[in-house]
Amino acid sequence: MAPSVADYEAPTRNETIKELKKEIKGPSYPFYYPHFDVNEKFPPTEIFEFTDPGTRADPAKPHLLTPNTITRDISPYLGTEVRGVQISQLSSAGLDELALLAAQRKVLLFRDQDFKDLKPERQIEIARHFGPIQRHPTSGNVAGFPEFHVVYRDAENDRFREYIGEDRANKTSWHSDVSYEKQTPGTTFFFILDQPEAGSGGDTLFLSQTEAYKRLSPTFQKRLEGLRAVHSAVPQAEHSRNRGGPVRREPVETEHPVVRVHPVTGEKALYVNQGFTKRIVGFKTEESEYLLRFLFDHIAKGADFHIRGTYEPGTVVVWDNRVTAHSATGDFDKAVRRHAVRLTPQAEVPIPG
Ligand SMILES: [Fe+2]
Repeated sequence: MAPSVADYEAPTRNETIKELKKEIKGPSYPFYYPHFDVNEKFPPTEIFEFTDPGTRADPAKPHLLTPNTITRDISPYLGTEVRGVQISQLSSAGLDELALLAAQRKVLLFRDQDFKDLKPERQIEIARHFGPIQRHPTSGNVAGFPEFHVVYRDAENDRFREYIGEDRANKTSWHSDVSYEKQTPGTTFFFILDQPEAGSGGDTLFLSQTEAYKRLSPTFQKRLEGLRAVHSAVPQAEHSRNRGGPVRREPVETEHPVVRVHPVTGEKALYVNQGFTKRIVGFKTEESEYLLRFLFDHIAKGADFHIRGTYEPGTVVVWDNRVTAHSATGDFDKAVRRHAVRLTPQAEVPIPG
């Protein structure tokens, strides 16, 4: 039976104020509000020794995959949802196993994590297990903690839209994070603080560059062997400079192999992305454009080796940047706040495949 009018009570004054506060509520985690200091400067990066923690892991992963851990694969090629384990509680051996699982499954969606409520120093300490953390040259960070890369959008701030532009028929923008670095990111952490309601958008698209490579014919794979491509930080720096943002480190251009080998799994993966890869070394302009256009199309059209990463309160996504590309979706209501933080450990100089 439908409830009668008498079942409803007028809201009390306190309730009305609570509602109003909800409407104008700021970020749930204001500490991580993006900070831009144009005077912040970093020296050029230096080469460091790197051993992937995954190489030390017990293949059975007894510290990570305990009897309480529930895993659910999202697709055959990449993506596993993980419940029943707290990243914050993992021992050093457990973190090694996490690196191995991330390398194998490429994207892990850890649910119900307390990670966002840890002290920033502890968050950084955990991520540092996987390599020295990249300090982003242009993005929002946190005052005093340049290790945090902040992703933030609300009704007044939409850097994603500014970067993509208004004149695109779709908003996908496939990339591997900061692939212009000499030592590109490996096991990467991304934790959500505020997100659109379930089903209201703001997912992240991921694809397997390993599967993208496997789909090519042996003859074509052979043609890619030995090729190198230039990855450039210049457009990102120019974009930041043009809008009055920081350029904390002079932008670099780095050559990487077009096919790289993962140091833990030995798998080969394509390592070009539309976001940062500009040209093939030694090719004439038209040849380079022709090949890169094919490869960018190939990975973007491979919906059968893509997944959507979804967010719930407490989700931490861990992905391996060496063997994946990803794209934001930007499909959620303008008025909704989406706030997330990335910690980006850098790994080895790419191993040519
Ligand atoms: Fe990204």
